[in-house]
Amino acid sequence: MPLTHFFQILLILYLTFSFSSSSSSSTPQHIHRGFSLSPNPKTTSFQPFLTDPTANFSLGFLRRNHNHLVLAILHVSSSQPFWLANPTHFASWSHSTRVSFNGTLLLSDPTANLFWSTASNGGDTLLLRNTSNLVITTQNNGTRLWQSFDIPTNTLVQDQNFTTAMSLVSPNGLYSLKLGNDFMGLYVNHAVKSGKPLKRLMYWKRTALEAKAEIEEGQGPIYARVNTAGYLGMYQTSSKPVDVQKFNTFQQTSSFLMVRLEHDGNLRGYYWTGSSWVVNYEAISETCNLPNPCGSYGLCTPGGSGCECLDNRTRFESGGCSSGNDDNDDDLCMNSRDSYFVLRRSGVEPPNKELLRYLTTLSLEECEGLCEKNCSCWGALYNKGTGFCYVLDYPVQTMVRTGDGSKVGYFKVRKTEKGKNPVQVKIKVVVTVITILVVVSVIIGGIGIWMMRMKRRKRVNGILKDENGAGPYKNLESASFRSIEMCNSQ
Ligand SMILES: *[C@@H]1O[C@H](CO)[C@@H](O)[C@H](O)[C@H]1NC(C)=O
Ligand SMILES: *[C@@H]1O[C@H](CO)[C@@H](O)[C@H](O)[C@H]1NC(C)=O
Ligand SMILES: *[C@@H]1O[C@H](CO)[C@@H](O)[C@H](O)[C@H]1NC(C)=O
Ligand SMILES: *[C@@H]1O[C@H](CO)[C@@H](O)[C@H](O)[C@H]1NC(C)=O
Ligand SMILES: *[C@@H]1O[C@H](CO)[C@@H](O)[C@H](O)[C@H]1NC(C)=O
Ligand SMILES: *[C@@H]1O[C@H](CO)[C@@H](O)[C@H](O)[C@H]1NC(C)=O
Ligand SMILES: *[C@@H]1O[C@H](CO)[C@@H](O)[C@H](O)[C@H]1NC(C)=O
Repeated sequence: MPLTHFFQILLILYLTFSFSSSSSSSTPQHIHRGFSLSPNPKTTSFQPFLTDPTANFSLGFLRRNHNHLVLAILHVSSSQPFWLANPTHFASWSHSTRVSFNGTLLLSDPTANLFWSTASNGGDTLLLRNTSNLVITTQNNGTRLWQSFDIPTNTLVQDQNFTTAMSLVSPNGLYSLKLGNDFMGLYVNHAVKSGKPLKRLMYWKRTALEAKAEIEEGQGPIYARVNTAGYLGMYQTSSKPVDVQKFNTFQQTSSFLMVRLEHDGNLRGYYWTGSSWVVNYEAISETCNLPNPCGSYGLCTPGGSGCECLDNRTRFESGGCSSGNDDNDDDLCMNSRDSYFVLRRSGVEPPNKELLRYLTTLSLEECEGLCEKNCSCWGALYNKGTGFCYVLDYPVQTMVRTGDGSKVGYFKVRKTEKGKNPVQVKIKVVVTVITILVVVSVIIGGIGIWMMRMKRRKRVNGILKDENGAGPYKNLESASFRSIEMCNSQ
């Protein structure tokens, strides 16, 4: 064997070894200019390419719904995503998707029309801190040009500053947490047709003054932070909080803390035990004060007795109470007047009514009249004792049961297809599905019989084709196999 061949083999061995060791064992802690990567088609859940010094957190490609890709920071032991670069617009898990770093971190996918970037020119290094903060710094003086902490997703980790410019958004996009100048609030983002402003309705409010601390005017905006002593604090300029929401592990544990805004609209705190996350804080402890615990047209009884429907003829099921017409129309203005029927129920009130605007009317009829005449109104709730009239200018969600029969609700319910009641519609759906199944199986059966007949005919033809040397692909395979044999025998 010539010497050059020997060196070639050595080189190949070296490259193979170094490649496999770098790709399998250690994920880098720094990324420099010139980095570029596409997802591996074989990865089933998460492909990390950057880790923090403790290896608790990783930045990588996260696979969602089979073929979608999100650029994510994961807490590795629990697989919990702490941050997503593109939470609403997914890339596809394909070779056309690429993340790169040239001073700016870029995620692009021309097929999904996605282009996400940190817009941070002049960066030299991308690194993940042991807090889960992803930062871009410059080489010469270490200045931080960009950090993921400035654009949180739904999670706030300990020591992360949450300012008035930021918001947390629940994974379903329905709820958000924002700061005002002396409070923090949770909001429902009501779905609206394009071209109209977003309707935001507050359902929880924590005012800083509740902690008896005076907010000083002109002292700069408030920000919030999870303090490692075990509370969610609001701060002005000094490091002394102007408000403290204690977790139930207050001053007890030194483990890692976070809060997150969840699917049900609650803001929950967690601590890490070393093997799992345990809840130690809930902004809303009464289920009925959540924005929509029983779904549209649901009725929630405080004290954990569960859900019913506002319409006492409908039984509550896990699917909720609305009659299966969840089209995203935010009002009834495009429909004719008889497109809805009116439902009345006494002993109900809106949840978190202290945060709602109300009018004062002299009578129930006057209150209902305000809603009846207005096509952007979905319902009105009246308190005969106080004369307060709450007008709902968004689709009806869960209401709260009260023992007080003088509180009355008036609700517009969109009629289902041709005004049929929900049970009839359900029966119709079942019948339709059965019909489709029968038709499909008849067609499949027919195709099966036809194919069996064709096969039998082909077998007869196939013998002739093989003799001509122009058979189907199986024959090509055996032809190439023959040529390999010939090479070996030479
Ligand atoms: C990095 O790449 C983007 C997209 O190709 C480009 O717009 C930007 O100017 C580049 N930045 C540098 C510093 O080369
Ligand atoms: C995280 O890094 C900081 C310095 O950047 C260090 O002081 C701290 O001890 C580290 N924490 C952990 C848990 O490694
Ligand atoms: C750090 O360097 C950047 C350019 O790389 C420069 O714009 C910035 O002013 C420097 N900051 C300090 C504090 O020197
Ligand atoms: C959070 O805010 C404090 C006070 O303004 C500041 O000292 C600290 O550096 C900030 N932390 C981060 C991660 O931005
Ligand atoms: C981080 O890693 C250390 C050491 O492995 C571990 O004790 C700690 O629980 C981890 N923290 C989190 C939040 O995973
Ligand atoms: C349902 O509500 C209607 C109107 O409030 C009332 O007249 C009726 O008695 C209720 N039916 C039942 C079974 O509670
Ligand atoms: C109808 O209701 C909407 C929302 O509450 C309100 O903005 C509008 O002024 C009302 N229109 C009339 C004619 O009362």
